[in-house]
Amino acid sequence: LRLVRSAAGAARAALRLRGGGGVAPLTLAGGGSMPAVGLGLWKVPKAVTAATVTDAIRAGYRHLDCACDYGNEAEVGEGIRAAISANLVTREELWVTSKLWNTYHAKEHVEAACRRSLVDLGLECVDLYLVHFPIALRFVPFETRYPPEWIHDPDASAPKMEVVKVPMQETWTAMEALVPLGLAKHIGVCNFNTAGLRDLLAYATVRPSVLQVELHVYNQQPQLLRYCADEGIAVTGFSPLGAGSYVELGMSTMEDSALSNPSVAAIAEAKGVTPAQLMLRWALQRGTSVVPKSTKMERLVENLSLDGFTLSADEMEQLARLDQRRRYNDPGVFCVGMGAFCPIYD
Ligand code: A2P
Repeated sequence: LRLVRSAAGAARAALRLRGGGGVAPLTLAGGGSMPAVGLGLWKVPKAVTAATVTDAIRAGYRHLDCACDYGNEAEVGEGIRAAISANLVTREELWVTSKLWNTYHAKEHVEAACRRSLVDLGLECVDLYLVHFPIALRFVPFETRYPPEWIHDPDASAPKMEVVKVPMQETWTAMEALVPLGLAKHIGVCNFNTAGLRDLLAYATVRPSVLQVELHVYNQQPQLLRYCADEGIAVTGFSPLGAGSYVELGMSTMEDSALSNPSVAAIAEAKGVTPAQLMLRWALQRGTSVVPKSTKMERLVENLSLDGFTLSADEMEQLARLDQRRRYNDPGVFCVGMGAFCPIYD
């Protein structure tokens, strides 16, 4: 425990000196910068969300990756308020991301959805608002269910997802309107491929600052990263530790985890870091940001302590060879169980 406390203290000190856990933030093409390591809030239970957020801020996190769909934005807001009241941080020092859920893609719903997230988070604006998926679902009013999740009416005799036809240009134009309203400082997208981005850039008057996609050593997406670098779009990798997050969902097994890959384990051991730290450092050295989730203090600290070592070109190359194009979070697979075949990457 003492070790964890002193590691937390060291992380805080590093943050004060250098910002963002000692790791350089990502500079965004449209101005501003985003801390490279954020706390992922997906699947953090409501009951522990506020405390996890406050603890994470105490440990040095300055980037919180939230979404309507995670169902815990009100609790994230509580955790932020507690941290600000305890003088751990100011609002201006935090980077808060939220995401537009699939049921709110029509132009008349985008602003209301953003405002609802802001009310829950207790903020006047988010630093980044992302389109969560390039999938539009039939609208569900807030009063009916919030967050509405994937299935249109869970009480129906045959509950299923209901995909609707909303052009992304309509959604994006409504996203752009959030910026002059002061509701979002930056906007962006998640789970897009290069074709989706190319189309978006053909009509965007406000360019996406950030793309968030699944990235880990088993799903490296080098062409997508290169395309984003060329277009000045910063990239955030979700599930940067790979399979672990999907084990509890029954979508993977720990044997499938890159954390136990022999090459990862060998390089990590040689460097005196954990496999998780190795994979996060690899992601940072590729120029991406990461949003690993954890509810455990020692892992929160571990995942932020990435500045004391670097990977050589040879080690980066060894890890590059582990790519399997293995995607765990694929609507083309998991939507089938909800009565819809909804591939977006193929
Ligand atoms: P836990 O919250 O119990 O720490 P995601 O893919 O959504 O970022 O989730 C990361 C997954 O990996 C979670 O299941 C989390 O569980 C686990 N995890 C987070 N940090 C570490 C770590 N440093 N070492 C091993 N597992 C971790």
